[in-house]
Formats: sequence, C-alpha cells, structure tokens
Amino acid sequence: TVLVVDFGAQYAQLIARRVREARVYSEVVPSTMPVDEMLARRPSAIILSGGPSSVYEEGAPGIDRAIFEAGVPVFGMCYGFQLMARTLGGTVDNNGAREYGRTPLTVTRSGSTLFEGTPDDQTVWMSHGDACSAAPEGFAVTASTDLVPVAAFEDDERRLYGVQYHPEVMHTTHGQQVLEHFLYRGAGIAPTWTTGSIVEEQVAAIRERVGTKRAICGLSGGVDSAVAAALVNKAIGDRLTCVYVDHGLMRKGETEQVEKDFVAATGARLKVVDASERFLDALAGVTDPEEKRKIIGREFIRVFEQAQAEIVAEADHAGEDVAFLVQGTLYPDVVESGGGTGTANIKSHHNVGGLPEDLEFQLIEPLRKLFKDEVRMVGQELGLPEEIVQRQPFPGPGLGIRIVGEVTRDRLELLREADAIAREELTAAGLDRDIWQCPVVLLADVRSVGVQGDGRTYGHPVVLRPVSSEDAMTADWSRLPYEVLARISTRITNEVRDVNRVVLDVTSKPPGTIEWE
Ligand code: XMP
Repeated sequence: TVLVVDFGAQYAQLIARRVREARVYSEVVPSTMPVDEMLARRPSAIILSGGPSSVYEEGAPGIDRAIFEAGVPVFGMCYGFQLMARTLGGTVDNNGAREYGRTPLTVTRSGSTLFEGTPDDQTVWMSHGDACSAAPEGFAVTASTDLVPVAAFEDDERRLYGVQYHPEVMHTTHGQQVLEHFLYRGAGIAPTWTTGSIVEEQVAAIRERVGTKRAICGLSGGVDSAVAAALVNKAIGDRLTCVYVDHGLMRKGETEQVEKDFVAATGARLKVVDASERFLDALAGVTDPEEKRKIIGREFIRVFEQAQAEIVAEADHAGEDVAFLVQGTLYPDVVESGGGTGTANIKSHHNVGGLPEDLEFQLIEPLRKLFKDEVRMVGQELGLPEEIVQRQPFPGPGLGIRIVGEVTRDRLELLREADAIAREELTAAGLDRDIWQCPVVLLADVRSVGVQGDGRTYGHPVVLRPVSSEDAMTADWSRLPYEVLARISTRITNEVRDVNRVVLDVTSKPPGTIEWE
C-alpha cells in the first residue's frame, strides 16, 4: 500500500487515484495520523500531498521527522515538498515568489530518477506562495523555474523525492510519468494492482467471511449496488439473495435491466417486489418535494424490510442463517465520513437501496476501497452489461422528483417516454461521456398553448437539464450541440402526447441544484 498523507486540500484523493492508475494500491490518511500508526501499516511508499497552508502559518500541519527516517520511500508534492525541505534542513522562504497555474519547468540534472525520459522543458501546475531556495543536505536539485531555484529534488540514497508542483493534475504534462518513476524506480514497487486482482482478493475475502451463512443485497438499478452484488454473487453464489424493490419510479427499461440483464450476466438469485401501487398510493395528492422524498424513503425502507424478513424466515425454516447485508459503499464516502465536516442538508438524500437502522446484520462492503471509475472497471471484469456499468447517476427517489407537481401513473408514462428519447439521442450523438447526467423534468402543473397539425394544443413542457460535473457538488449546464437539442425537441413533441414544448435549463449549480426537486 502507498499511503497518501492528506494535508487538507482536494488533492489527496486525486493523487490516490493517479497512484492506482499506475496499478499500485493506495489509500488516503489524514495528516493528523501519528507517524507510528502510518508506519505500522507497512506502506511500500508514502506521498505527502499539497495543502492550502503555508509552512510558516501558525497551526500549519507539520510532520514528524521520523517519517523520513524509517527507510520508507517518500514523495513530497507542493506543500508536502516544502515540509520535507524544511523538516530536513533546507530553506523555504516566504519571499513572495508566488506561482499559480501553468508554469514552465526546466529539468536541470540528467540522470534524475523522477525525470528520466521526460523533456528538459515541460509544463507543470503550480500553486504556492513560499518557495524552496536551498535543498536539504544530501539532496540533488533536479529542476527549477524562473522564480524558484529548487522546484524538485531527490536523494536516491534515502529514497526521498519532492516536487514543488502538482504532478497529479492534468495540466502537468508529464505528471503521471514522474509519479510512476517515483513508484517503480524510486520505491521499487511493481504495478500489480489490477481489476482482476481486486476481484480475486475480494472474492476470497468474502468467501472466507461469509462461510456457510447467507447474505442479502438490495439492488437499486445503479452501478454500485449491481457491482457489489455481482462480486458477492461470484464469491458465494446463491447463498446471496438480491432484492429489487420496484417503486414504479424508474425510467424506461431500467427495471427490465435488473430483472433480466443483471440476472442473465450474473446468475444471481433475485427477489423482485413490485410495490409501484403502494408508492403511487402514498404519493397521491402530494406536491411538496421534501414530502415526496420522505414518503418514498419511508415506503422504501418498509418494503425492503418486509422482503428481508421474508428471506430471513425462509432461510430459518431451512436451518440457515442470514447474517450479512451487502452495501455498495465507495471509497470517497469512507474518506469523507472519516474526516469530513458536516454539510448542510440541502435535500434529504434517502439513499434508496439504503440501510434500515436497527439491523441485526453484519455489513459486507466490497467496494469500500474503490473509486467510481474502478467500480465500473470491476463491473466490466465481472461481465455486467455496459448499460449498467456506464449508467449515469440517477436519484433514489427516481422520476418521483422529476415531476413537478403530483406524481401519477399517466404523468410517469409521459416522462418515461420523453426521458427515453433524450437518452437515446444523447447516446446516438456520442455525448454520454461528456455529460454527467441529463435529468428530464416534467412540469406537470404548467400548461402552454401550442399548435400541432391544424389544431390548438394545450400541453405540458418538459425541461432538459444536461449538466457537466466532477462530483455533483457543483455543476455547469452542458453546452450541447444545437442539432442534438433540435432532434430531441422534435422527437419529444412529435412522439409524446400532451407534451408540446421542450425547454433547456441553462443554470449552473450553485445556484440551481441538478435535480428540480
Ligand atoms: P442535486 O439535485 O442535489 O443532486 O444537485 C446531486 C446529485 O445527487 C443525485 N440525487 C440523489 N441521489 N438519492 C440519491 O441517491 C437522492 O435522494 C438524490 N437526490 C439527488 C442527483 O441526481 C445528482 O446526481
């Protein structure tokens, strides 16, 4: 394991992902973790991330010198680089030599471990106020910029390396290469961490843990629960029962994807509960978005718990013990709940597929160590269909929060058709990878006058809400090509009865959220 020590900026997770792209397993740890504890995990290397502080600031996070003396290879980046310089006796000045953004870097030493095979002049991403003017003893200076004499250094003997810039960001042209040089050449780690090895390792661990007991997994239609279920299924076969609650708020074809395609690909044992009547009844007359979300969340948990109880009872009857519940928790959630501060509750996110509270089960979380793109790769490795593996985010409450107004069967039918057309055209135009997601929203309580054929119409508008985003926390509206918008609009107004207008949402987040409710 390579440990990435997080000095409190957004960079640590990105660094961990880059290390994994180099097929080396890595984990993020907070800089407040005692060095003893870090070393006790026997890391094959340690990376010190960038951070927002200046090493001179009062209360700026520091690092125990022992980390450099344990014989473990260390790579400092940006703030981590300055900490390393200062801790080991180099000079870091607070002299106003700030650099920000793309910066030309000159490699000044041939035979450098980190820069081997990269050009002498390269572009790097800088973001710093202080600068290192003298490397600590034993270090060779390997690169500089116009403003910074010591922009990179290395000590091959002690296997300590540092760069002033951010190799992990895209704008640094040879960043990945430099990182890989550190891992393979500097630290001598072999790139053996692959999706195949993740699957193997998880399957073995799950088998061992579950033994002869049984497990349950809720499927939501999304990537995470599908991949988690497929992994566990591979490990324990039909001692896993998957539960899919059909709340009637899914998009066209999604329930079939779970019922048919998922089962065909995995052979998993699946219990489908058709609860759409129940959800629609509970939603009758309700227009308030928060109330809708609460009702859907509440009903979901009730239905899921009932299905669970039935499975447990059946197993009991056969003298078997259902002891485990599978969850699709991902690594960013783990990192964030470990060190995150509370964020405001903008909307109640009932993670449908989520967990009733008073549970007598132990959790199996086979994706706990993985980033989303790795989960997709594992899904592929397990032979799940492309439509499931590449599925864009879709909210747990489903189309229930994409109908502004009361949710009814008819309205769901309209929205499903409109949504299917938008998805089809976006896919046909090859835009799936450019957009994060594209909610289609039915303004069910709005009517406008139109003309179709020879007649006057009085129908509803639908809103297209294509957005680009990295993590859904912020988003921008996607600049879709006009021809694609035109095709979607023409098809929806022609093919979906009662919809006579298509409008485009051109609001970023903030101030708008991605969903309308
Ligand atoms: P907003 O609308 O808050 O959405 O900008 C951010 C992201 O979260 C999704 N979303 C949900 N996901 N349960 C979920 O699992 C929910 O209740 C929920 N509400 C919103 C939304 O689609 C977007 O990707």
